[in-house]
Amino acid sequence: MDLGLKDRVYVVTGATRGLGNAAARELVADGAKVVVTGRDEKSVTAAATALGPDAFGVAADNADPAAAERLVGAARQRFGRFDGILVSVGGPAPGFVADNTDEQWTTAFESVFLGAVRLARTAAAELGEGGVIGFVLSGSVYEPIPGLTISNGLRPGLAGFAKSLADELGPRGIRVVGLLPSRIDTDRARELDGLSPAPEAARAANESRIPLRRYGTPAEFGRTAAFLLSPAASYLTGIMLPVDGGMRSGF
Ligand SMILES: NC(=O)c1ccc[n+]([C@@H]2O[C@H](COP(=O)([O-])OP(=O)(O)OC[C@H]3O[C@@H](n4cnc5c(N)ncnc54)[C@H](OP(=O)(O)O)[C@@H]3O)[C@@H](O)[C@H]2O)c1
Repeated sequence: MDLGLKDRVYVVTGATRGLGNAAARELVADGAKVVVTGRDEKSVTAAATALGPDAFGVAADNADPAAAERLVGAARQRFGRFDGILVSVGGPAPGFVADNTDEQWTTAFESVFLGAVRLARTAAAELGEGGVIGFVLSGSVYEPIPGLTISNGLRPGLAGFAKSLADELGPRGIRVVGLLPSRIDTDRARELDGLSPAPEAARAANESRIPLRRYGTPAEFGRTAAFLLSPAASYLTGIMLPVDGGMRSGF
């Protein structure tokens, strides 16, 4: 199937590694061009170089109110157009209710929540018919994850925001989608398992709760993201798609 990605231009934030990077890789593999971001200049340059000439790196923090305009501007300047954005970002601090400080909540709100809102708002103003806005959220949108209280608090709200946006942008032919990973084998997943005194046992316990009995690979997530962002998914909007090997208990 031709995804129709050739020469389309996407901004992918939080893409120096992990899920954003995997999505950027699959977009480029199918002929798209990408502006990739992360906070660290060196990692951004390295990631863009590894992705090849169809990638351009810009160091930007999703929490920065000026990031959105800068990134859309970079897409237009470097590649001459802007067709969509995938918002990924470092996950919020882990912790149970009593653990998380106001500062952790505020930091996460700025980068995970308000950053995504600002990026989406700017993209919405810039995109034309056929444009797409994607959010990398979490399985916590539907089912709270023990020990990830901030994620459990913020992600469902972002899903609500995404749904509002899908309703508002649909008449302009712009789609809005969410991806809900649960356990994809990235640095973040390994860091979370590493919080347990027995990381390997923690991973095995998680895997035993996944019907496919394994963590997903970044490439599996990336392919799903590339499809959702592509014109091949032209009638999908307002959806939250679990990418979780069946882990979500509802249907
Ligand atoms: N992996 C999973 O299974 C899973 C499951 C549920 C939810 N998620 C969520 O999905 C998102 C991505 O996860 P991941 O596994 O890819 O994480 P990751 O491996 O930690 O990668 C995060 C990426 O985002 C960048 N980043 C971090 N903070 C940023 C900021 N404020 N502005 C711009 N870029 C930033 C990082 O680079 P720098 O640090 O250099 O900026 C890195 O490129 C996270 O929000 C995570 O909570 C992941």
